[in-house]
Amino acid sequence: MKKDTVLQNVRIDKLVFGGKGLAEHEDGRKIMVSGGAIPGQTVNLRVLKSKKNYLEAQILNVVSKSPFEEELPPHFQVYGGCKWLPIAYEKQLEIKEDQVKDALRVLRDRTASATFHPIVASPETLGYRNKVEFSWGKYISAKEGVHDEFRFGFHKQGEFDRIVDCDYCVLADERINAIFRAVRDYSKDSGLPTYDPKTQEGFWRHFVVRKSKKTGATMLVFSANTDFPAYSRKEEGELLVFVRQFLVPEFPEIESVYLLQNVGKADIVTGQAVKLHGSDTIVETLLGFEFEIHPKSFFQTNSLGAEKLYETVLSLMRSKGGTLLDLYAGTGTIGILLSGRFDSVHSVELVPEASADGARNAARNGVTNVEFFSGKTEEFVTRFLNEKKRANAIVIDPPRDGMHPSAPKAILEFKADEILYVSCNPATLARDLQTMLETGEYRLADVVPVDMFPHTHHIETVVRLERVSE
Ligand SMILES: C[S@@+](CC[C@H](N)C(=O)[O-])C[C@H]1O[C@@H](n2cnc3c(N)ncnc32)[C@H](O)[C@@H]1O
Repeated sequence: MKKDTVLQNVRIDKLVFGGKGLAEHEDGRKIMVSGGAIPGQTVNLRVLKSKKNYLEAQILNVVSKSPFEEELPPHFQVYGGCKWLPIAYEKQLEIKEDQVKDALRVLRDRTASATFHPIVASPETLGYRNKVEFSWGKYISAKEGVHDEFRFGFHKQGEFDRIVDCDYCVLADERINAIFRAVRDYSKDSGLPTYDPKTQEGFWRHFVVRKSKKTGATMLVFSANTDFPAYSRKEEGELLVFVRQFLVPEFPEIESVYLLQNVGKADIVTGQAVKLHGSDTIVETLLGFEFEIHPKSFFQTNSLGAEKLYETVLSLMRSKGGTLLDLYAGTGTIGILLSGRFDSVHSVELVPEASADGARNAARNGVTNVEFFSGKTEEFVTRFLNEKKRANAIVIDPPRDGMHPSAPKAILEFKADEILYVSCNPATLARDLQTMLETGEYRLADVVPVDMFPHTHHIETVVRLERVSE
């Protein structure tokens, strides 16, 4: 079959992890469908790749809607991040639960011992995000007849140099949206150009709003190319005047404002942080503990959802006493929450600033038995084993790529009573569990999917492994 062949009236059977649709061609090959498929839809497709066993195709147009699709209010727009918005929330939960089960099928009969618990829903499905990252940029396309030098919103899916204007982000609350609109108007009037990643010219790059769910305290981070020739301290002064004389009186919940001098080529929110206004940090409260958030700190983006995730960890963990290893610890949230149950906690995290935040957070909450180690988990577990350190229980919460190949086996050598694996990617979870279960020393005891990101394809899963008695 040739590239660009059009396939007509294809029914989307299901969604697979990553958000792609799955359909079947009449010749029996599976079709991986991109472009926002919804199960139950009938669509026309354009073939992108034709392989021996499967096809890749993109949606050209929708022929008939899915029974799971809901009518959206007129101001609800689907940007890259929330492409499941038209799918009824109950259906989203069902899809995510099935995706976790599908991913763990590679474990075959090792799943027989496990209890698959129902998915834990997010307490809020709209306005749940405590952090939203907007981007400035352009939209220039001769093919589409568009030449717009000022855009402020989100990246067009898969395109690094085109921005789609946002009017209203449904995953953020009203106040975040109102601040976003005020900043849009100001930046448009400022006369400073938006950044162009192709030429590395221009000024405005990213705007991050973080708002504590519990206290309402809000932090703003402007990320801008301060190497831009037309930029001077004068513009910084004007930004400061806007912040102090307009934004803060209008939005008194703004407690902290930073400018990130973002002069690198990569499209990431980074750079030297210059505080323009207010306090160094804002504070979020999770399950009664206070956590300080810095402009560059990692923090779960759905605070109420994070409480559900951590409650799941707290309720699955049965161990008490001895030492807990909190691996891939971020700012030490899990270790701090579990610290009351153990004599000591070793918290290991790659990013030194996150470990430093963790140590500050522990002190702020009067927690004295958590020690923070900054470095790679795969190196620290070997070091701890060489130092004959023991672990009664272990929590692992790696990034999307899962663990370094050497880590799963080394972790088993602690012979901990139980291991909890918190994962944001069912595929790498399944891969790591295959290695951890193959020696037969542990059995898969519990699997709990948790939805922290309604309207997106992301899934969190907490898995509990129990040591099989010798
Ligand atoms: C999904 S986050 C988990 C954070 C934390 N457990 C929480 O609940 O907020 C994963 C963390 O692993 C860290 N990380 C990535 N690779 C690592 C490695 N090889 N060793 C240790 N930490 C790593 C990242 O910096 C990030 O903070």
